[in-house]
Amino acid sequence: MVEQTLQWTHAAAIVDVPPGSATAIKVGEGRSIALFNVDGRIFATDNQCPHMGYPLTRGAIRNGILTCDWHGRSFDLEGGGCFKYECDNLQTFPVDVRQGEIWIQAGATQYQRREEHLRLLWEGLLSKDRWTISKAIALMLKGGVPEEDIVEMILRHLGRRIASANEETDSGGDVSRLISGLKVGRRYRDADRLMTLATAASSVAGGSAERLEVVPLPGHVAWESIEGWTRMFSRDGQSGRIERCLFTARHLKYENRILPLLYECAVAPHFLGIADNLLSLGHLAEFVDTFGWDRSSELVFNLGAKLIGRQRGEPERFRRDAVDLMTSMISSAGTGSTPHSRSSTYDEDAFVEALTGINIEKSFAALNDVLKAGIELDRLITTLVLVAADRMARTPVNVDAGWGALTTELNLAASLRTAKRHGGDVVVAKGLFHAAWRLFADRWINIPPRSLSAELGGARLDVPSEDAGVALILNSIASLKVQDVGRQVLEYLNSGYSGDRLLGEMGRAMVWDDTNTRILPTLRTVFEEWEQLGNTNHPSRYQLLVGIARYATDIRTNKDSGSATNTAMRFAEGKTTVDVFAE
Ligand code: FES
Repeated sequence: MVEQTLQWTHAAAIVDVPPGSATAIKVGEGRSIALFNVDGRIFATDNQCPHMGYPLTRGAIRNGILTCDWHGRSFDLEGGGCFKYECDNLQTFPVDVRQGEIWIQAGATQYQRREEHLRLLWEGLLSKDRWTISKAIALMLKGGVPEEDIVEMILRHLGRRIASANEETDSGGDVSRLISGLKVGRRYRDADRLMTLATAASSVAGGSAERLEVVPLPGHVAWESIEGWTRMFSRDGQSGRIERCLFTARHLKYENRILPLLYECAVAPHFLGIADNLLSLGHLAEFVDTFGWDRSSELVFNLGAKLIGRQRGEPERFRRDAVDLMTSMISSAGTGSTPHSRSSTYDEDAFVEALTGINIEKSFAALNDVLKAGIELDRLITTLVLVAADRMARTPVNVDAGWGALTTELNLAASLRTAKRHGGDVVVAKGLFHAAWRLFADRWINIPPRSLSAELGGARLDVPSEDAGVALILNSIASLKVQDVGRQVLEYLNSGYSGDRLLGEMGRAMVWDDTNTRILPTLRTVFEEWEQLGNTNHPSRYQLLVGIARYATDIRTNKDSGSATNTAMRFAEGKTTVDVFAE
């Protein structure tokens, strides 16, 4: 390691860098600096190629241009400018040779490249380049850029991308993956956190086009008109008109009424069977909660309008009957949570039996009854969440386990908690019909009904300690033992070991697998619902962890997606690819 003074750093003796040669030295906490002797003149640059970190001492110099030996990016050796416009510039340092010794001014170690790296992130998002995205995020996190600033850039990209996307784009899925990635990422640190953030960002990457700015309607438009028009355009499937209404609403300071209105439209009976309306609205509401209207409005108005203004087509017979049934029931449905009703007896098993009985009339009638009885909405949501978790925990995995449908059941039920916060009780009461329909629509999965109040049974895990239990389960996930892993999770929990710890460790294993993008929304739901229910004594609460373990194990590819993340971590620490390889 070289000797450092405040301003200048002693780098090497001139005899150690003979003409025509290059050598690497380390400064500070191991940062690699390249020294070049070009015809007797010494140049100093960062040794890490700004592209992917290859050591530049292995590059070639011609006419004052340094060319990296890996992908051939070239830089002005003196000023550091890259000749490829979308590449980062190379950092260069002043050099002084005194009495045969080379000194360099390594400059402020303080991070000063926020704008450059935000631009790099944006480029990575547009070009769907996982490496560039991971590198930019790693550099900014290392430089102390607040995560909110990074997410704001991702959000801006997503808003623009969705606004200019065609109908086929899975915009709701993009939003779900981004918000889920952010929420899961906050539970982890360092490389795990970077991995989750980079996964979330990469999952929303892709090209976006310019579009004309949406401007509010002129004049002062009354809220009653905006509300009435929005409902009418929603019924008629005219999303563009809804978007303009929403921009107008915000312009006229009706912000607080926008999400409730979107929710009210989304739970209308004619949207029965379109689960992602409620799910996606929940995610949009969370963006508004977390980042405020200024940062979220383009995304919320565009996607919100697309959701509630979608064309629906002619419903098939079962759905048409169910729409009529729901329409006739909601006019008389209660909204729950009324103070006088809290003592009402709630027969959860009877309710579950009706929900899972493959008879939509009985299912809706049972729901109508519990709503009229004033059973607390949170209890009903919990029941739906646990029914879905229980089905994930028991679905046969030898043919088609139905994971897409089952995870939608779970995520939809859990999203009703967000709907309650932003849309109110009536919205949730209607949303419960949508969740009940979902169970009916998934009857093909053929999972026998089970009473949620029945004890799950099972033995205790035959291991000497919690550590050994966690290791056993992680090993089952990694070796795809889907027939064992559910039982092991149940036995682990029966042994009194920590579910919080197990979920954290299982989540890490899921996040580092190639299936992470697919799992993130459900993993996030399980984290939140486990927090909500893990400490209750509901006999079925363990099924949340059993279900996610089986799901992740069954779809796992064992294709590690971490190489970009790991390399980006090392890159942000100033290490070259050769240093990383040597490690
Ligand atoms: S051009 Fe240098 S690492 Fe790619």
